[in-house]
Amino acid sequence: MKLFDVYPLFDIEPVKAEGSTIWDKDGVKYLDLYGGHAVISIGHTHPHYVKKITEQLNAIAFYSNSVKIKMQEELADKLGKLSGYTDYQLFLCNSGAEANENALKLASFHNGRKKIISFSKAFHGRTSLAVAATDDAKIWAPVNLTDNIEILPFNDESAFEKAMGDDVCAVIIEGIQGVGGVQIPTTNFLKKIKSLCEKHGAVMILDEVQSGYGRSGKFFAHQYADVKPDIISVAKGMGNGFPVGGILITPHLKPKHGMLGTTFGGAYLACAAAIAVLDVIKDENLIANSETMGNYIMNELKSIKGVKEVRGLGLMIGVELEEACAPIRNQLLSEYKMFLGSSSDKNTLRVLPALNIKKEDIDSFLIAFKSVLSK
Ligand SMILES: Cc1ncc(COP(=O)(O)O)c(C=O)c1O
Repeated sequence: MKLFDVYPLFDIEPVKAEGSTIWDKDGVKYLDLYGGHAVISIGHTHPHYVKKITEQLNAIAFYSNSVKIKMQEELADKLGKLSGYTDYQLFLCNSGAEANENALKLASFHNGRKKIISFSKAFHGRTSLAVAATDDAKIWAPVNLTDNIEILPFNDESAFEKAMGDDVCAVIIEGIQGVGGVQIPTTNFLKKIKSLCEKHGAVMILDEVQSGYGRSGKFFAHQYADVKPDIISVAKGMGNGFPVGGILITPHLKPKHGMLGTTFGGAYLACAAAIAVLDVIKDENLIANSETMGNYIMNELKSIKGVKEVRGLGLMIGVELEEACAPIRNQLLSEYKMFLGSSSDKNTLRVLPALNIKKEDIDSFLIAFKSVLSK
């Protein structure tokens, strides 16, 4: 059987990784500044992470959500404390799209409405409602087309005010747009969404799948705006590569048996991975490290010739170049052995390293980047 060929691939075969370093099958060493789409939060193969998952694998790897899995409570407790959302409820699933899908379903169960508002350049995943709320017609299949979603201009308060009413079920927005090229919602925009959702009985959903888990220099990027959404979706950095996602749910949204569900979500191995990630983020002060390293790298990037704009918070960084970034990214990979990310904006590179990236690795990147841009 052949693989279903949907991914354009680099001709690289990674076989080993540690921290921010990856080795390919020929022993060539790479610096990982992208974490496979912002997934690697605590660095590859962190010893605590490996130990926790290995111990769990030797104890019990799986049973369904029909039995008590105490680790889910430990995970919820640690996540609540580290994120500041101790009074919220946690529903566990397996991916970012699934988290958003459940967030939107829950909103609709709650207020009985159908209309969802999302924003230009948004990316919320590739399944059903999540893809319909994503502003990319290329990945909509005909069956995804629905009148239930309205996509409004990002950061446009007056367009949003006009569209809001008592028929709106939910508003979904990323903490920082990732795929869209690292665009930050303004504090006023988030506050406006919060107040109009409250006024009209709509549910405010913050998609923190990419911008969450300490990457922005706060646990969640929306915490810079000091708003409290009703639902927060998480995945990516939550498991540092183990597939796990979830939604954090405000106390006033009440659960009912059977309302949401999943076979794999919240199983032992996923919990072991997610608990290990939170332990490391806390014990190694990685949220503060994100802020410090992020400020350092962004300041340095701003002074490089050929850089038009640097956007971001913490270690969620978009570098807009004066030219298309694909050749630059390819050169950084092939000549300097550094992984970086692209975005839907052809001039914007994404820099999304592990939250414990070392300064010397950032400096190697800056030297390489300057050299490539000067050619
Ligand atoms: C903000 C955001 N939401 C949702 C998703 C979808 O996550 P997944 O690929 O785990 O389904 C992504 C993936 O890039 C994302 O960036």
